[in-house]
Amino acid sequence: MPITTAIFDAYGTLFDVNAAARAASEEPDFPQLKSKWQSLAANWRTKQLQYTWLRAVADQHIDFWTVTQHALDWALDAAELASPELRDRLLALYWELDAYAEVPEMLSTLKSMGLKTGILSNGSPDMLDGAVASAGLDDVLDEVLSVETVHIFKPATPVYDLVAKRFNTSPEQVLFVSSNGWDAAAAAHYGFETVWVNRTGDPIDRLYGTPSHMLPDLSEIPELIRQR
Ligand code: LAC
Repeated sequence: MPITTAIFDAYGTLFDVNAAARAASEEPDFPQLKSKWQSLAANWRTKQLQYTWLRAVADQHIDFWTVTQHALDWALDAAELASPELRDRLLALYWELDAYAEVPEMLSTLKSMGLKTGILSNGSPDMLDGAVASAGLDDVLDEVLSVETVHIFKPATPVYDLVAKRFNTSPEQVLFVSSNGWDAAAAAHYGFETVWVNRTGDPIDRLYGTPSHMLPDLSEIPELIRQR
């Protein structure tokens, strides 16, 4: 079946979640981050994801922006870096995360090929709007879908259901792209054709679905669709 719709995870896939801690570490106000920004960023991300999974399992949903703050507070404590100024700066930077370098051209190529494009993310609508605007992606994305409409985080099935409902298509006509191995696995099980973007050469997740494709970054997505 032809692919009509390309859907992207946001954080870690289109937007570099390490960019906030990296950028703050280069600012004169935060010399304490120089040696610690990488472990801070890794803990921030790991806790953020763990909290989403636990809240989904326990039926304790709150929005992703609150989860992101809780995770940052844990990571700052773990690094013994807690300070209101650093916290505020990191949270401000999270609203304007860098998109990976290949993203604008890749999305504009998909649009010129006639595909529908969108984001499907745990992110709160405001956060996603901020990131999309700051990366200049408004014109190359047809839709930004947030889990806030279903009040549960990925990988719960109602999240993936949002795509076919919004685009009036069947899952087989959707190419779903995520750099999160667990998201790609769940989306493959759901029925999307799925790309796992594995930038860091991680082992494959042993879960209940297997992505059909693995790529080192996003640049080959248009070619992958052309060659199907
Ligand atoms: C998202 C998380 C999983 O954007 O990165 O949905």
